[in-house]
Amino acid sequence: MPDAFFPTLEHLATAVMLLDDQSHIVYLNPAAENLFALSSKNLIGYPVQHAFTHTGQLAAAMQQALDNNASYIEYDLTLGTYPHGKLHLRCTATPLLLDKRYLLLEFHPMDRPLKLAREEQMLDQTQANRLLLRNLAHEIKNPLGGIRGAAQLLEQELEKPGLREYTRVVIQEADRLRSLMEKLLIPQQAPCFSALNIHEVLERVRSLILAEIPSGLVIQRDYDVSLPPLFGDKEQLIQVMLNIVRNAAQAMQGQGTIILRTRIARQVTLIKKRHPMAVMVQVIDNGPGVPEHLRDKIFYPLVSGRPEGHGLGLTLAQDFVSQHQGGIEFDSEPGCTCFTVMLPLQ
Ligand SMILES: Nc1ncnc2c1ncn2[C@@H]1O[C@H](COP(=O)(O)OP(=O)(O)OP(=O)(O)O)[C@@H](O)[C@H]1O
Ligand SMILES: [Mg+2]
Repeated sequence: MPDAFFPTLEHLATAVMLLDDQSHIVYLNPAAENLFALSSKNLIGYPVQHAFTHTGQLAAAMQQALDNNASYIEYDLTLGTYPHGKLHLRCTATPLLLDKRYLLLEFHPMDRPLKLAREEQMLDQTQANRLLLRNLAHEIKNPLGGIRGAAQLLEQELEKPGLREYTRVVIQEADRLRSLMEKLLIPQQAPCFSALNIHEVLERVRSLILAEIPSGLVIQRDYDVSLPPLFGDKEQLIQVMLNIVRNAAQAMQGQGTIILRTRIARQVTLIKKRHPMAVMVQVIDNGPGVPEHLRDKIFYPLVSGRPEGHGLGLTLAQDFVSQHQGGIEFDSEPGCTCFTVMLPLQ
């Protein structure tokens, strides 16, 4: 047994466990005892499969390391202890050849369940807010028609032309409110899915934005052309990318560079679900960045940093992306803002 090895491991903050060639636990350090809330006396000598519960993923990670004779990392491992239930861990398994074959396991706790719970709660809250807004928009839209009609009738009756200024304001403002309410009431159509090439979507968006903004804007492409086709609603995805790219162009006031990047991403977890592969689309701009005070709420409806903005572009983008079981997030600092859309592949 490699005794010389252990004293160093005793001081590590990382939880470490050593298994022999029969997968029996021969050592675990104090950090591992802490993590599992189990004393080494209760574990040493036992096969790892008997010492824990939910060991399927651990067994698979160990097998991968042994088969390849190289370190294997499982980023999202669930392992159960008898008294304390499931733990979410990142685990590295490394084969070692000392006096005989061993397997070294390192464990890092993850706060994934907490983060997931927060994501789920946020999603529920956002959906509830959207419903409230839709209902409110519906309630506002109906009397608006009455207000507008009454102002029109009044206008016809007014003798002093100067007074018509006021009815004009009522009519114009009623129209403005009505168009905002209509945007909030966009029909919730079910997406129409088919196989599509994400680069066709991006090319369409690129040419639309370039036509909208006459000069000064450069849109570079950084595409991974080997991406497999994606199953999605083409019109919805065009709208998603259009809203994001248009925001970038508006933030830069039409002057600057936008990069459209596509990549494949592996083993991604998107709202409650793990996907082996996803398409990652990034829109990167070198504009001033998302204003600091808006950073945690730009996906909320009616939140806008632009005087003429409705604050609906990103809300809609997020709705459409979640109908594709995908996710959308951003990183922003002055000079570099990156919106990332993840769309799982079937
Ligand atoms: N690339 C970006 N750079 C800087 N700020 C951004 C960027 N993208 C979004 N924002 C900020 O997020 C806000 C919300 O965007 P969103 O698209 O939801 O609404 P909007 O653009 O204001 O209005 P709408 O899209 O409905 O016309 C924007 O007003 C802007 O302040
Ligand atoms: Mg917008």
